[in-house]
Amino acid sequence: ERTEAMLLAIPKVSLHNHLIGAVSARTVLDLAKKHGVTVEGGRDEASLYDHGSYEDLDEFLRVLDVAGSVMRDHDDFRRVAYETLTDGGAALGVVHREIFLSPPGHPGVPYRTIIEGVREGMREAEADTGITSRMIVGLCRNDTAASAVELVEEIIANPMDEVIGIGLDYSELIGPPARFVEAFQLAGRAGLRRTAHSESGPPAHVEVILDQLGGERIDHGYHVVDDERITRRCVEERIPFTCTPVSSDIGRYSGSGDGSHRRIAQMVDAGLLVTIDSDDPPMFGTDAVNDYRALARALGYGRAQFERFTWNAVEASWLDATDKLALT
Ligand code: HPA
Ligand code: ZN
Repeated sequence: ERTEAMLLAIPKVSLHNHLIGAVSARTVLDLAKKHGVTVEGGRDEASLYDHGSYEDLDEFLRVLDVAGSVMRDHDDFRRVAYETLTDGGAALGVVHREIFLSPPGHPGVPYRTIIEGVREGMREAEADTGITSRMIVGLCRNDTAASAVELVEEIIANPMDEVIGIGLDYSELIGPPARFVEAFQLAGRAGLRRTAHSESGPPAHVEVILDQLGGERIDHGYHVVDDERITRRCVEERIPFTCTPVSSDIGRYSGSGDGSHRRIAQMVDAGLLVTIDSDDPPMFGTDAVNDYRALARALGYGRAQFERFTWNAVEASWLDATDKLALT
């Protein structure tokens, strides 16, 4: 109906999407077959991503590992990037995406294989649909501080225009942000942009990310509204928060209690710069339109608010000014 057409038509700018979690179940199984990998538990296309049944973050991350383990060569990365930018992107009204990569999620795969494969998929997707995109390398917070530094050194040793920054993801319970100060400072000195996940963490983690890691955006950040002073500061500094309503509600580990929707409403009402995306779309049974749909239903948001999210994401994007203008 009308709402559906509106949600599809609104141009979307996607700032919180993980490549490793954006691969369709069908493609995961295709790649498993290609590489002779047996998917544990005999999971098939219907059951691979058992939406809503991830008991905790660790179970979710184990399923993520299955997807990561079948992405191995240049063409695998080209293919998954192409698919998520076209079928999972341009076809749903996404005009620009800054996508997280997870090199530690693909054990044994050379970093260059990943970024070169993804770059080829990005170029093909732009040629076919016009969607633009960039890469953000996610440091894995389950890893040690030293291996995070090593990954940043690898990024610096293999410069590529399309790789514009770093993030910090995986298990928040294991890896508090302060562990990664050295890696983030090294990245900052090399001119890389910086963001970090803070989904279940306390408001104090937001300040650690901003002040010690040099973070410019916060991924999720739902608990910021528990602290009035930090919220006010983030409003004043126009710190972007990349929220993911469906993934955060399914993943009960977000610790958002009464659901991320309510917290997103509080964040919007507080005047924070909020953007909306889908995190790991097929794994959570969602996509770029569906996350808007969920907010339309739960919060009654309409066109004006969704357009605001897009403008926020344009502001929050790490494109340079000329490329931002080309988006509009
Ligand atoms: N949460 C945390 N880490 C991740 C995710 C996620 O949804 N996807 C890939 N790494
Ligand atoms: Zn995420």
